[in-house]
Formats: sequence, structure tokens, C-alpha cells
Amino acid sequence: MDKFDIIIIGSGPGGYVAAIRAAQLGLKTAIIEKDNELGGTCLNVGCIPSKALLASSDHFVFAKKEAAKHGIVLDKVSLDLATMLGRKDKVVKTLTGGVRALMKGNKVTTFTGLGTITAPGQVRVQPNEGNATEIAGDHIVIATGSVPINLPSMPFDGVTVVSSTEALCFDKPPEKFLVIGAGAIGLELGSIWNRLGSEVTVLEFLPRIALGFDLEISNLLQRALTAQGIKFHLETKVSSVKVANGQAIATATKGGEELKFEADKVLVSVGRRAFAEGVGADKIGVALDERCRIKVDEKFRTNVAGIYAIGDVIAGPMLAHKAEEEGIACVELIAGKAGHVNYDVIPGIIYTNPELAGVGLTEDLAKEKGLKVRIGKFPFRANGRALANDDVEGVVKFVADAATDRILGASILSHAASELIAEIVAVMEFGGSSEDLGRTVHAHPTLSEAVKEAALAVEKHAIHIGNR
Ligand code: NAI
Repeated sequence: MDKFDIIIIGSGPGGYVAAIRAAQLGLKTAIIEKDNELGGTCLNVGCIPSKALLASSDHFVFAKKEAAKHGIVLDKVSLDLATMLGRKDKVVKTLTGGVRALMKGNKVTTFTGLGTITAPGQVRVQPNEGNATEIAGDHIVIATGSVPINLPSMPFDGVTVVSSTEALCFDKPPEKFLVIGAGAIGLELGSIWNRLGSEVTVLEFLPRIALGFDLEISNLLQRALTAQGIKFHLETKVSSVKVANGQAIATATKGGEELKFEADKVLVSVGRRAFAEGVGADKIGVALDERCRIKVDEKFRTNVAGIYAIGDVIAGPMLAHKAEEEGIACVELIAGKAGHVNYDVIPGIIYTNPELAGVGLTEDLAKEKGLKVRIGKFPFRANGRALANDDVEGVVKFVADAATDRILGASILSHAASELIAEIVAVMEFGGSSEDLGRTVHAHPTLSEAVKEAALAVEKHAIHIGNR
């Protein structure tokens, strides 16, 4: 039986990054993946393919609606969806192949098959076909991720009522595309198909979209997406979806009134749940929490010695970068180093156009916690580069501690929000203040100057706009 220092079950961003770090630290490492490709949800059916389609569909809208403003005349812009989907698949293949090469380059042994812990230190790998292999490891890290929540009242059929996986590869834009849930998945996939010509309606139970992000900025995103043609019904709870003759009918209630929505495709994006089926955690007594996530301590240890868990299968935001940091910290701790994840400074992004990015506390959350805060805001319409780019939609908002000026949180709505937020994340990681950021030289002309100006606005010192 092959024996390893560490066995990682699951090859998503949490698992494969943990494997690389473990190998770097000199540990003999194995990784087990039940699917044929490495990379997990993020690379195969999540973050990466959705970003590929978001980029392509954004170019399509530019060609159709924006190019002429720049003096670029494009006749007869039309959609070749097969090529668009093919490009997305190629991007995924390049990256999953890259992960395989990284495993090889780092001398991580890869097993394809379902990994099941049979006893502490023992794992059985059962491939789709053929015999199982038994391997042993001193440390076992469960990184099995999450799956879309499948509600019994609106079960996925994979054709008409779908999860994000199928909504990434419709062979033609649905005429009517109904999205249930205005979280990251619903808004991103709703945007893609809206841009490609579908009539998109989003039904959301809460009185707002993008829960977890700053309310004021989320409302601005909703306004922008509405202007792009997406219809929103808030405070609308979907109770069931039925399919007849390939058409779906969703029944919902809004303010006591029953509503019906017809569509040819329905995306149910009402959240994801931890996935640990088949991993054997329950059989060897690994404790779960009330939401069936694996319970771990601050060192990612479960209650069973030698078994750890990271990523979507444990508590916390279901984000690839959170899983990666946990993977690194977990194996560093196993190797006797000081691994650590700063949960107060994890950025979250919704990749619509404009993108919505947030880190740390929102204004509302800070106030709920009884903190005295000061707010600084700066709109992109007052930023020279944004004007030159024709990208003036959006704003930067800071939440700083009123007494110490330490940055507690920030939100950005902008075409480039996902990149711009990184600077704020770095300053927050070092415990920086709005003044630190406001006094940092930013190249001109750049969109990042709006970040600097919003930081200056905390002290009412913004230069290119009136300070109230
Ligand atoms: P979510 O939990 O973010 O949003 C689901 C929404 O559905 C909520 O606003 C909820 O109120 C609503 N909802 C639930 N039941 C409903 C009903 N019966 N009728 C109407 N509305 C209902 O879930 P989502 O978007 O599926 O994402 C799952 C996870 O994946 C999240 O943790 C998310 O952060 C993560 N993710 C992150 C991405 C990113 O960072 N860009 C992209 C994709 C996923």
C-alpha cells in the first residue's frame, strides 16, 4: 500500500493549492479527484467558464451598442454561440491541464476516483471503472467543496430547470430566462444571457439583490442591470417550478399575491451546500455542524485526529480564494509552521458589468455592530480615465473607523472593481487607514485614482469633487 505524508481529497482551488504547498514543504503528497479533470467546480463549471462567457458577452454588447460611440463602425454584428462556448471550453481545458502539469511538476501523486476515508489514516480510491486502490496517509485533508442546492419544489431536470452547470452551455439563448435568486450566480448568469439576447427575469425573496454587499452600492448595481434590460422582482418567494411541454411555470408570492412566471429555461441559484458525500467522514465519526458542514477548529482539524477540512465543505464564504488560503494555512500548520487566514479581509466580487466588489464591513454591518464610522465616496464620473474609457458607471465607498481612521471595509462598483479592490485589501491587511491610502501616490490617469479620492473623501479632502 502506498503511504503518503498527506492525502488531499478534492482538487478544487482549495485542494490543489494545498497539494502544491504541501509538496513545497517537502511532504510526500497525494491528491484524489473523482472527476476526470482536476480543478473542481471553480475551473470546470464555475468561476472560470462563467468569466469566459462574461468576457465574450461583454464584447458582444460592446460591438453591438458601444463601438459606434468610439467611431468604430461594425456592420451586422451577430452571435456565433458555438464559437463562444468553444472558446470557453478551451480556456477551461488550458487551466485544468495546467493544474495537472502543476501536480506533476511538484511531484504530487494524482489519483482519479472517489476517495473514501475507511479509517483514520486510510483512504480507498474507487475509479469509475476497475478496482479500488488503498492508500495510507498521516494527514488527510477533506476539500470536497459544495454543490448547488436542489430544492424538492423546483428540482433540477438538467434541461428546463437547471443549475449553473447547464446554464453555462445552453446551445441557444433562451427566449425567456428565469433566474431564481439574486446572488452572485444568478446575477452573473442572468447578465450573460441578457447580453446574448434572452429576456431575463430575476426573482428574489429578499427586498434587495446581492446580499452580503453594501446595500447602497447593491441598489446601484440593480439600477445598472435594470437599465441593461434585466427585470427584477424583489420580495418574491418562489414556491414551486413545474415543467410541461418543455415550458416552465414558476409560482411565487409577493405581498400575499400569487404570481406566475413562464420561461423556457429556469436557473435555480438559491445557494450552494457543503458536499461531503462518499468521503466517509460520517462513518469514522467526523462531526458536522447544523448545516452539514464539516466542523473544524482554528487549525482546520476535525474532531478525528489526523483529519482536516478546508474550503466550501467547512463554514465561511464559499469562495475559491478563501479555500486556497485555507489550504495553504492548513498544510503549513501540519508542517509545523504558522499558517493563518485573515477572515476579516476576504474580498467578494460579483462579475457583472459594472462589477460589484466588497471587502470587510459594510456601512450597515459596522453600524449594527455599534461602531462609529466615517464614510468616503467617489464616483467614477469624476475620474478622467473613466471618462476617457467611456466607463463612468460606479462609485468607490470606504467605511473607516471614526476614531482611528482604520479602514474597516470598502465597496466598489465599476467595470474594473475586481482588480481595483486588491489595493484596498492589501492596505487593510496591513491595518492601514484611509489617510494612508489617500496619501499614497496613484498614477494618473488611472481608475485607481478614484480609490485614492474616495479614501481622501473620508476626511472630506477629495480633490476632483465637492466635499459635503
Ligand atoms: P446566494 O446564496 O449568494 O444567493 C441566493 C439568493 O437566492 C439569496 O439572495 C436568497 O434570498 C434567494 N432565494 C433563496 N430561495 C429563494 C426562493 N425560493 N425564491 C426567491 N429567492 C430565493 O447563492 P448563489 O448565487 O447560488 O451562490 C452560491 C454560492 O456560491 C455563494 O456562496 C456565492 O458567494 C458563491 N459564488 C460566488 C461567486 C463569486 O464570487 N463571483 C460566483 C458564484 C458563486
